[in-house]
Amino acid sequence: MSEEDLRKLEAEYCSWGDAVHSAEPPKMFESCEGCFLYDPQGTPFLDLQMASATASFGYRNRRLNQTLKEQLDRLPQLGSHYLHSEKIEVSARIAQLCENIFHKKGRVQFNVGGAVAVEDAIKLVRNYTHKNAGFAFMGGYHGRTLAATAITSSYRYRRRYGHFGDRAHFIPYPYCFRCFYGLKREDCGLYCLKQFEKIFDTEYYSFWDSKAGECEFGAFYMEPVQGTGGYVIPPKEYFVGFKKILAERKILLVDDEVQMGFFRTGKFWAIQHLDVVPDIIVFGKALTNGLNPLSGVWATEEIMNPKIFPPGSTHSTYAANPQGTALALEVLRLLDEQDYEKKVTEKGQYFLAQLKELQKKYPKIMGDVDGLGLALRIELCKEDGITPNPELTLRVCQEGLRGDLKKNGKDHGVILNIGGYFKNVFSLSPSFEITKEEIDLAVEFFDRLMQRCVK
Ligand SMILES: Cc1ncc(COP(=O)(O)O)c(C=O)c1O
Repeated sequence: MSEEDLRKLEAEYCSWGDAVHSAEPPKMFESCEGCFLYDPQGTPFLDLQMASATASFGYRNRRLNQTLKEQLDRLPQLGSHYLHSEKIEVSARIAQLCENIFHKKGRVQFNVGGAVAVEDAIKLVRNYTHKNAGFAFMGGYHGRTLAATAITSSYRYRRRYGHFGDRAHFIPYPYCFRCFYGLKREDCGLYCLKQFEKIFDTEYYSFWDSKAGECEFGAFYMEPVQGTGGYVIPPKEYFVGFKKILAERKILLVDDEVQMGFFRTGKFWAIQHLDVVPDIIVFGKALTNGLNPLSGVWATEEIMNPKIFPPGSTHSTYAANPQGTALALEVLRLLDEQDYEKKVTEKGQYFLAQLKELQKKYPKIMGDVDGLGLALRIELCKEDGITPNPELTLRVCQEGLRGDLKKNGKDHGVILNIGGYFKNVFSLSPSFEITKEEIDLAVEFFDRLMQRCVK
């Protein structure tokens, strides 16, 4: 069928409710390989976001695709009331890894998609603490089911659909480039952290019962590096004090690693950069290289043991499905065999250095360039170097999708993802297998897009 005919059908029969139309009309793609997507005309697009930060090991990764094919031929499906080895092995590997890192024994369970795994974490918290309410950060994103939007900061995701459960109380994230309090990191003395601690000073600030020594809120849901918020990398000092405040008040820490887990930031879990021990971890996306919507939750033994959290507490037909868990097992083996900490850190440092070099050419407009591992950010601003420039960001993104950047006589495009509190941030999550030449190409293309769009 021609692209034109397909678009007519799409306009008539596809809901747009489940899509994010960042470009109008949305671009169509037909195939992929390595770091590239190909449109129906065969034009290669260098992908700097890799299917919403899922395909960390590259498109059509031979080994992972082969794993899936073999699983299809052996045990492609199984009701979740039975066991298969991959489910057990993946759970054990993740739990043992967490035990090594955090010195806490725990368990793992699965679901399909990040938001529902977040919901499972909410159930775990409610079950363990008997408290419904939670804290979360401004700029945080945890998914779009009703419960996940209750702890996601944007009112836009709730406005039409109302409240189903308790909406979180949102606290400013330590986003130092755009400090909520207008301060500078050099001399702020972590003012935002002090403001957070202050809310527990007296029961009259509404959070704390001084007589019972209890908080009304059971958990704090956080991303160690904000994803949709624009790959905001926080100062480590904040989180050490932050965890102490929570621990002293018996507030659980739920670490949402759906986007940053599995070495995106150069550590297995991004929270390892912050020297903080979580009570619950939520993960998804790169666990299967984006080939299966498997997601999951790790929680300490106290919280997830079967006496406290009995069979049937959560369930999905496809949870722990054999295809997903087989892929996850192979991803974990891959991560074991190679030094991804070194690989991702070195590639990330090289990419960041090239972007910082480019920033010298657009010192105010590329207002902030930062990165941790291969989670990189470019924040576009107006000429004053701070006012967000979402118009330019959108122009650059759409220009990349035109697919007319010449290289070696051939047309190319670039896939950029827009995020950030003001929709003025390119959040880059390239493949871990990206080569030095491809990084150079990405920076060259980005420069050429900027040259076209900056007036
Ligand atoms: C940190 C975080 N949590 C949760 C989610 C929701 O995951 P899903 O879209 O698979 O439901 C996302 C998705 O981008 C995410 O980045």
